[in-house]
Amino acid sequence: MTTLIINIKELLQVRETAKAKVSGAEMAILSTIKNAFLVIEDNLIADFGAMENLPPIHADKTIDATGKMVLPSWCDSHTHIVYAGNREQEFVDRINGLTYEEIANRGGGILNSAKKLNETTEEEIYQQSRARLEEVMRLGTGAVEIKSGYGLTVDGELKILRVIQRLAQNYPITIKATFLGAHAFPLEYKENHKGYIDLIINEMLPEITKNKLADFIDVFCETGYYSVEETQQIMEAGIQFGLKPKIHVNQFNSIGGIQAGIKYNALSVDHLEVMKPVDIEALKNTETMPVALPSCSYFLSIPYTPAREMIAAGLPLALATDYNPGSTPSGNMNFVVATACIKMKMTPEEAINAATINGAYAMGISKTHGSITIGKKANLIITKPIPSYYQIPYAFGSNLIDTVLIEGEIIS
Ligand code: NIG
Ligand code: FE
Repeated sequence: MTTLIINIKELLQVRETAKAKVSGAEMAILSTIKNAFLVIEDNLIADFGAMENLPPIHADKTIDATGKMVLPSWCDSHTHIVYAGNREQEFVDRINGLTYEEIANRGGGILNSAKKLNETTEEEIYQQSRARLEEVMRLGTGAVEIKSGYGLTVDGELKILRVIQRLAQNYPITIKATFLGAHAFPLEYKENHKGYIDLIINEMLPEITKNKLADFIDVFCETGYYSVEETQQIMEAGIQFGLKPKIHVNQFNSIGGIQAGIKYNALSVDHLEVMKPVDIEALKNTETMPVALPSCSYFLSIPYTPAREMIAAGLPLALATDYNPGSTPSGNMNFVVATACIKMKMTPEEAINAATINGAYAMGISKTHGSITIGKKANLIITKPIPSYYQIPYAFGSNLIDTVLIEGEIIS
């Protein structure tokens, strides 16, 4: 099956030779071709170039993209899409003055979601999560990482990971699974951290790897959650079971989580709302991708990741949604890109790089995703007719997506 897209006003994120990630000043460069064509063979990008160089081609399907932009679909490297119910009440409680921390301290927050999840059937969780996955696909996401972490019991964690596996089997979108058993301590282990960590290491991890239910291991390294020492212990165990770390750090406090992640060669360190100069320094010349989650900052009214300082230091940066019921009930990467420009002062070029190629890197899939490169997946966004790609962040809140292709197929 050959699909040909013609008259593309501008084809974005063109990379003749695939790059694993872009860092520092390179992030400002978004290579494009104006008045372009793109050829898809089955599920892969087979060719692209300027319209004047379009070779004779027999296409089974031709899409005329006059006035429209084409770009690789978003790579959302950090979500918690599989959860039960919602936390609307906590949202209103925060409006009325309680803090996220106060809500968590009285048994709300992650523990509230864990209670709901453990009371909900696997089928029901699948149905609720499926709707969210379909929504983000329509919003232009073509690859997504999904974490467990709302079970906090052996059964609950496995249930979430099985749902993620079932989503991956039933949908064309690329899905990477992360085991986040260390998201919080269940109430009964509040005074017995060792007991719960033993459960993670001795009961959850063996079962997860036996059934190939996860690619990565995550820990919420934060004051009141997992200490740096506990985080290291869990990363070490995960690595022994073949899971590379991708961890939550520096959301509210800078306590050394970044340095721990780097020590264990984490694929990414995520959140980074609170960054000290030593944290930025530590990330230099490492293979660890820093990931910012601006819609979490927006929703919780907490600081934004200091993108300008990080990029000036030569670091790469990826953008992701953090879609979850507590801190970010939104999986809209278009909003993430706009918010990164508006609030973090990233340029449109930097934000698009961060949400495509660097997002792919943060999931370990930059060989196959994140740029317009021959041989990569034909996961594409075709915009509505727009004056320039600046519209994507500029017209924040508007839906500028006309068509989404995943694995070369139009999704509706
Ligand atoms: O990434 N920070 C830790 N975990 C999630 C939110 C957890 C929740 O409130 O449910 C996050 O923001
Ligand atoms: Fe998260």
